[in-house]
Amino acid sequence: MIRRVVLILSLFIALPLAAREATPEWGHPDSAAIASANAQATDAGLEVLRRGGNAFDAAVAVSAALGLVEPESSGLGGGGFFLLRRASDGKVIFVDGRERAPLAATRDMFLDPATGEPKPLQTVDGPLAAAIPGLPAALVHVSKNYGRVSLADALAPTIRMAERGWRFGEKNAAMMGWRKAVLAADAGSAALFLKNGETPEQGARMRNPDYARVLRLLAEKGHDGFYAGDIATRLVEGVRAAGGIWTQEDLAAYRVVEREPLVFRHGVRTVITAPPPSSGGVALAQTLQMLDGFDWSKQSEIQQLHLRIEAMRRAYRDRAIFLGDPDFVEVPVALLTNPAYAAGLRASINPVRATPSDMLPGITKTERPDTTHFSIIDAEGNLAAVTQTVNLPYGNAMVIPGTGFLLNNEMDDFSIKPGVPNAFGLVGDDANAIEPGKRPLSSMTPTMVIDADKIAVLGTPGGSRIISMVIQGVLSLDSGATALQAAAQPRVHHQYLPDEVSIEPGALSDETRAGLEALGHTIKVEPRTWGNMQVVLWHRADGSIEAGADPRWKNVGKGATTEGSIFR
Ligand code: DON
Repeated sequence: MIRRVVLILSLFIALPLAAREATPEWGHPDSAAIASANAQATDAGLEVLRRGGNAFDAAVAVSAALGLVEPESSGLGGGGFFLLRRASDGKVIFVDGRERAPLAATRDMFLDPATGEPKPLQTVDGPLAAAIPGLPAALVHVSKNYGRVSLADALAPTIRMAERGWRFGEKNAAMMGWRKAVLAADAGSAALFLKNGETPEQGARMRNPDYARVLRLLAEKGHDGFYAGDIATRLVEGVRAAGGIWTQEDLAAYRVVEREPLVFRHGVRTVITAPPPSSGGVALAQTLQMLDGFDWSKQSEIQQLHLRIEAMRRAYRDRAIFLGDPDFVEVPVALLTNPAYAAGLRASINPVRATPSDMLPGITKTERPDTTHFSIIDAEGNLAAVTQTVNLPYGNAMVIPGTGFLLNNEMDDFSIKPGVPNAFGLVGDDANAIEPGKRPLSSMTPTMVIDADKIAVLGTPGGSRIISMVIQGVLSLDSGATALQAAAQPRVHHQYLPDEVSIEPGALSDETRAGLEALGHTIKVEPRTWGNMQVVLWHRADGSIEAGADPRWKNVGKGATTEGSIFR
């Protein structure tokens, strides 16, 4: 099968790249909107819009604020992808602020030299788990190149919140439940997040003056405010004192990469999404293009689910085989996203029977919380879709004293040994093996969908499930869902291996479930829901705008609702 895939790929090697998005004259909506996972962060973005900032300034504001008020999900010690579209000239931009492996990282660094087996928990907890942060560089880059107000102005609401206090909420506490012991074991984390060693009460006021200081340094000195000087020294000394391998050179060498977004046609729509080192855009393109060949609206619910599951199975299989950091491995993006390749895969789908995954050989990855996504459209029509992360809840649970932020555990997104699963059952391959300075493969999929009627900006956290959620989000928007409906949709996921359809509790009726089982699918009802999708929609006919925040987490308050926030 692998040989067949390679053969199919090489047949299309000379075909042109996917269509480019080229319609700058879009007009503008009648207002701006932000959908984020936390009301305090949405408010920070709204404040910057009100003070004359554009969507990109607001994205910097929301990103920095989420790092403060949702420390379990993302922050200055992590990374993220900023997908932007500038209204004035239609330019689409992908700022890759993904973390990089330290330069002293080695392929086998997480294996016991005596046994060749993985050393437990090292990719998850403590100093070796952390890759070199990219988010601070992304904030500086986006502000400098695309913002209208100064970085200091974009960061001001978060600096104020860090100094005066932010409110600890339900999601902060729930995620802390998973990570409390390891947070308590780190003096910096315990001092910053725990109250007498315990999870703070919901609604508790949390202060973080160190976070404010780091943001001030960024505002004053730009990139060097983080990657050189006091913060860089503290980070390197702190990580090394704990047994880590970071050097000043790692920080000095960190740069964001501006990559060309992945752009493809999906029926009458243009989709703009994340290129590698995200695997999400490629899998999204493959899945939607496979489905484009079916007369979708005429299919029954069971048939639509069957076809979606089969398309996902095939796209996730290719993800496992081909995807990695494009600066280190050759990822055949143009080939994988070519409609003709999708046609080949589509032909292998049996409309009346599930294809067992072991008939499609390869390997796969799965991932779990935490991460965050936000979507912004401003009143000029600028678009921003941003997904950012520290990987698992509260990252590696280390706060270097004086910095005010957690380090990530993104090293766990690498495959530490071919075929050996990581903490969440992931297995990987050579394309995603550890190399010095390499970016670990991501599933984060910030996405924009454009057609004659509407423009949608969407994305979500959820590890490997990000991709299936974005697929589902796009398909539901296709069929006329509101922003909130698209975010709220009950989720159905398949990722090739394990060969099962995992569903949220109550996602399928008994009848639909039985129908899928009759086609040969194994259905697994998960104990809990997943994801935290944030959608903003602009209706082109009347300029109206809609924001939908995932109702699964009700971590909202003043300034944002489960419908998101609209600014007029
Ligand atoms: O980059 C990635 O794909 C992962 N680090 C994201 C993890 C994630 O989304 C977990 N969120 N719930």
